[in-house]
Amino acid sequence: MCGIFGCVLNEGDAAPLVREGLKRLEYRGYDSVGVATVWDGKVFVKKDVGKLDEVHAKLNLDDLPGCVGIGHTRWATHGAPEQVNAHPHTDCTGEVAVVHNGIVENFVELKRMLEQKRHVFRSRCDTEVIAHLIEDELKKAGSLIEAVRRALREVKGSYAIAVVHAKHPDRIVCARLESPLVIGLSSRGMYCSSDIPSFLHLTRRAVFLQDYQVAEISLNGVRVYDLITGKEIPYEVQQLDLSEEAAEKSGYPHFMLKEIFEQPQAMKNALRTHELYYDLMAPALANAKRVFLTACGTSYHACVAASYALSELGGITAQPVIASEFINYVGPAVDEETVVLAVSQSGETADTLSAVRFARSKGATVLGVTNVMGSSLTRLSTVYIGQNSGPEIGVAATKTFTAQLTVLLRLAMKVGLRTGTLSQESYEGLSERLLAMPDYAAKVLETVDERVKLLASKYADRQSFCFLGRGISSATAMEGRLKLLEIAYIPCLAYPAGESKHGFIAVVEKGYPTVFVAPNDSTRTKIIGNIMEMKAREASVISLIEEGDREIAEFSDDYLEMPKGIPEMFTPLIYVIPLQLLAYYISVYRGYDPDKPRNLAKSVTVQ
Ligand code: M6R
Repeated sequence: MCGIFGCVLNEGDAAPLVREGLKRLEYRGYDSVGVATVWDGKVFVKKDVGKLDEVHAKLNLDDLPGCVGIGHTRWATHGAPEQVNAHPHTDCTGEVAVVHNGIVENFVELKRMLEQKRHVFRSRCDTEVIAHLIEDELKKAGSLIEAVRRALREVKGSYAIAVVHAKHPDRIVCARLESPLVIGLSSRGMYCSSDIPSFLHLTRRAVFLQDYQVAEISLNGVRVYDLITGKEIPYEVQQLDLSEEAAEKSGYPHFMLKEIFEQPQAMKNALRTHELYYDLMAPALANAKRVFLTACGTSYHACVAASYALSELGGITAQPVIASEFINYVGPAVDEETVVLAVSQSGETADTLSAVRFARSKGATVLGVTNVMGSSLTRLSTVYIGQNSGPEIGVAATKTFTAQLTVLLRLAMKVGLRTGTLSQESYEGLSERLLAMPDYAAKVLETVDERVKLLASKYADRQSFCFLGRGISSATAMEGRLKLLEIAYIPCLAYPAGESKHGFIAVVEKGYPTVFVAPNDSTRTKIIGNIMEMKAREASVISLIEEGDREIAEFSDDYLEMPKGIPEMFTPLIYVIPLQLLAYYISVYRGYDPDKPRNLAKSVTVQ
């Protein structure tokens, strides 16, 4: 997730307005920033690493000539946060400048093809291919918009882009596919942006560009075309009625809820990571003598789930270890034949980094999964995968959990192909199912939200909860517990359900809320037994079941139905969603701010 902004003004300099617009988009990314303007037949660019105010203090971003400009605030996906990778990106001639929010999935192939045509690349950023593709198409096309349209037909992935050209100084061409783009209209000028808060102080008249649409904005107005056919399309101008704060949260009352609802897109973005990284990691994992997975908090739960998947699909044993215990617990076993896979959203968690540094000192191979390119974890890992979730503002991890898990599941499948645990056919079948998971997540969000709200109001005053699951669902249960604990301040327990009779059962009494993660998988028969044990002690059973599972529904005081047909190892991706919502709504019912739970920080950089 990055932020893009552009404006075409009828008088005055564009650069200060672009900078102001970017400031309001910094919640979308803030590791580097850049602005390009057009003036006197030339494109002028300033860009660097750092937050907008830091870069502005250093470069004076306002000091760029021209009343047409585009800008970008970055959350790195391809290419570390370095000056050369910051946007805008230019072509070989320096006449085309592009800003982009999204991921060019086929950039390796496109770059190779363009290099064969003697294009010279300066960055490692996927976006640069778009600038060179436009340069090529301009040789054939009659207009900038036609060149952009033709170039984008080569691109696989997601994008919202804005393009300026030295020889077309009066316009911006923009387009979208799966990344947001909105156009603002005013008498002073026209704007294009990733999100409306960036121009709400300038205008409240907007056009929301749709997927596969390309638009040209100039002082003559806005023209929208179909990206595939090139035909002009009529559009509707909407009058916006939103406060600036509500607009930043896209109308959601809290970032946490917004981020829960962003999960289908976050999972899709995670699936866009290039195959190359998995091909590098999989042999290391498949051939290692010992594999440890290490992380903290929610990332640790992703590791617990991944350890089941690596065993079931990958055919290897990978032990999940809480990072703060890593050295004392498994330290003596770590050597040159060990692979440590560290998972950290921030890439800066001190306990995780300490485990990683220790592993490196023992000669182990360190692999990383993180959301922050350029973080310490990316620097300490031999190979790392960026999960592409964009910034997560709520302190409670939600979309970053499902994105991490998406990456880890794909990795487990790759390992399975390597070890022979999965045949090519079953690997392909599962890959297809994994690609469908974002749609399952969207369906669950659509169907369970209201019902979870009701459940939350029913149970919001309870003093304690327990979450139980078997197999991979025990990781889902642990994550459900952590969410409720950290944002609603309710002491909660979580167990692999079979363990509940070895102690927990002593505290169960009438009405004790016990949440069962009970998909229709290999654990179902046994979990029914555990549900009966709790029912016999008059616990209030809340179960997450597969749609139409009448048997478990009848034993439950309340239940939530999940779609049919989710492979067992993928269930945490979907079953965790109602648990995130439950925690969110209970927190709100109890009068807390779920975005900023007390005593917690988004990134814990002390040991
Ligand atoms: O940035 P990391 O993934 O390394 O963070 C790990 C934990 O601090 C984090 O997951 C924390 O537990 C969250 N508050 C969970 O919602």
